[in-house]
Amino acid sequence: MIKKIKDWEWTEVEQTSSTNDLAAQFLQEVKRPYLITAKRQTCGRGRRGRSWVSEEGNLFLSLTVQSNMRDLGQLVIMSGLAVCRTVNYFCPQALAEVKWPNDVMVEGAKISGILFESAKEDWWIMGVGINVVSQPSEGMMYDTISLNSLGCKAQRLEVLEHFIEEFDELLKQWKKEGFAEIKKSWLDKAYKHGKKIIIKQERCNKEGIFVSIDDNGNLILLTEEGMEHIIVGDVF
Ligand code: BTN
Repeated sequence: MIKKIKDWEWTEVEQTSSTNDLAAQFLQEVKRPYLITAKRQTCGRGRRGRSWVSEEGNLFLSLTVQSNMRDLGQLVIMSGLAVCRTVNYFCPQALAEVKWPNDVMVEGAKISGILFESAKEDWWIMGVGINVVSQPSEGMMYDTISLNSLGCKAQRLEVLEHFIEEFDELLKQWKKEGFAEIKKSWLDKAYKHGKKIIIKQERCNKEGIFVSIDDNGNLILLTEEGMEHIIVGDVF
């Protein structure tokens, strides 16, 4: 059954391989903004070929969004900020931070990850996973945390609704005022901003000071060679 959250048409399924797969199938047939959630994912995936362990009770959602390449980086940044604000709404005492490009961390442990995948033409799938009731721990390359482990008794559908509100608010602000204020808010919450970091890339690591992000959502790193705009990688 098709329901709605704010202006988003929404379908929830019991189980799927990945909500991003369902969103891709949807876009094969119709091109319009849509929200898909699943109670269970059997093959959840993350960035750079990693899997996303999908324990029941956590939130798995995909939004279909239309964007040209020019705006995509800004959308990526907004998605992380919307999750970060959502985490802080349910857990005001937690130090929630956005980790470039769009992970969300609390106390240095990952609470959410976001995977953008391209679909047809200028349509994209924004897949968001938020640890609500539990934090997968086996075989993880990083520490994990959940809202419930922080003492916040949220349920996944409340988290979903609030996330959509935050994301919609940001979209509205972006359309009205552009990216500058959003970028400032993001930098205020950015993990390791102004500090020395290592960016792990497929073939090499880059070390430097995390100076800022640019208007394409790339990370600006001050290395020994000078300023570099980093397009992909993981921050450590
Ligand atoms: C990452 O941190 O590497 C990104 C994780 C993205 C996980 C979400 S859960 C909903 C959607 N479906 C997937 O298979 N992946 C995304």
